[in-house]
Amino acid sequence: MEKTEISAMAERIDLDGPIPSDELMRQYYYLKKAKALLTQKKEELGRPLTACVVTFGCQMNARDSEKLLGILQEIGYECTENENADFVIYNTCTVRDNANQRVYGRLGVLHGYKRRNPHMKIALCGCMMQENAVIEKIRKSYSFVDLIFGTHNIFKFAELLYTCMTGNGMIVDIWKDTEQIVEDLPASRKYPFKSGINIMFGCNNFCSYCIVPYVRGRERSRRPEDILDEIRRLAADGVVEIMLLGQNVNSYGKNLEHPISFAQLLQEVEKIDGIRRIRFMTSHPKDLSDELIEVMKRSDKICRHLHLPLQSGSTKILKDMNRRYTKEQYLALAEKIRREIPDISITTDIIVGFPGETEQDVLETIDVVKKVQFDNAFTFIYSKRTGTPAAAMENQVPEELVKENFDKLLAVVQETAKERAKLLAGQTAQVLVEDVNEHDKRLMTGRMSNNMLVHFPGEKELIGQFVTVSLDECRGFYYIGKRMKDD
Ligand code: SAH
Ligand code: SF4
Ligand code: F3S
Repeated sequence: MEKTEISAMAERIDLDGPIPSDELMRQYYYLKKAKALLTQKKEELGRPLTACVVTFGCQMNARDSEKLLGILQEIGYECTENENADFVIYNTCTVRDNANQRVYGRLGVLHGYKRRNPHMKIALCGCMMQENAVIEKIRKSYSFVDLIFGTHNIFKFAELLYTCMTGNGMIVDIWKDTEQIVEDLPASRKYPFKSGINIMFGCNNFCSYCIVPYVRGRERSRRPEDILDEIRRLAADGVVEIMLLGQNVNSYGKNLEHPISFAQLLQEVEKIDGIRRIRFMTSHPKDLSDELIEVMKRSDKICRHLHLPLQSGSTKILKDMNRRYTKEQYLALAEKIRREIPDISITTDIIVGFPGETEQDVLETIDVVKKVQFDNAFTFIYSKRTGTPAAAMENQVPEELVKENFDKLLAVVQETAKERAKLLAGQTAQVLVEDVNEHDKRLMTGRMSNNMLVHFPGEKELIGQFVTVSLDECRGFYYIGKRMKDD
């Protein structure tokens, strides 16, 4: 829904009438109530009230944060990146323990701000909040937190926020699971020209190391009509690049009333005028179909990039990880993709130090990296997550061995990624200009279809446009280039 439509809908709600029973209208009701309250508060204080949303974790969380931000803006908060604000919310991640530790560390800093600002409210949401032990710890050691909710009831943010604004003491509302998908809540995009779109929520795969299925619940696909409507509205609002989001997009649509495959959905998305680039994340190798490869191959809009998490190259470890493919199956799949779509870039995720992993297993992983020649790989040290099957495995690997194996793997990953990047030297590429370069303001940063970045001299007016650049100088994982012509 457009922003103006949202405001109009909220306007029509009668605050003196009964609380609407329809969930969407109920949230707009609370949104309006919160807005009235905030307006009054702003008048009393004689200053604007600020809000800050901090995101940890993956693209799914980033998209959720845009929804939080949309609601905060609609209510009348001035949004800022400064955490010394009147309302601060951390959208947390718990996939590895270091994500959790960062949250605890930063909460300490927030407490300092809160002592000096009596109007400050602190909220926590996201994956970490779905863990009982976390809630207990926050109740005990971080009792200054005002509001906690989880991943399943994020659509109730307006209502929870209103309750928090009017109450005292910590409000905790965590749901175990949900079947509900509430469409059409406001969202505020970080970039005007590109956007993520959830196509499904949750995960049913239960990889033995992973906490996501426990904190995000069972897999639920959105109806294709709702997804396509959202994309059409985004296109009308100037979005040219979209990323379809799900933990395992390849199993999209299987449980819908009228089942549809991910490849079929992509074909429908392609038909939408104004959308020039389509990306998606993440693909599970076990579910990647020939139909998808075919659709990607024929498409001008689907980007030449596939993120295909390997996790391990050892069939034995893959089995214990419950990934449901072997080393050979992964290699065959990657080879097929490279053969069918030669200009595609394949990136991956790898875990080092899974229980029982030996040096020999790591050598198998290195062998896959060399054979597939990943264009990029995110390497993670295994982190034990309470409640997952792997956490209960007895043969946890000693830290020194993990570190050694990790460094060895990282060196090979970087080497192959550089080799792949170098192959493009001297060519030209179309990029979507995203930003001014962080380190050198004279340069603009553009993203190629294969997800690689190119920095080139240009003006900030180019942001959001497609331009053609020369790939002059390879600097490891990115290029320095020049603009060739307008597209
Ligand atoms: N659904 C996606 C990934 C989600 S989590 C998929 O299946 O590919 C992102 C990455 O975090 C995973 O690919 C994995 O490499 C890593 N990861 C997940 N759990 C982990 C753990 N317990 N320790 C270390 N890395 C982990
Ligand atoms: Fe986790 Fe596996 Fe689901 Fe990915 S597919 S979110 S790694 S359980
Ligand atoms: Fe983290 Fe939750 Fe994403 S645990 S990786 S934010 S789904």
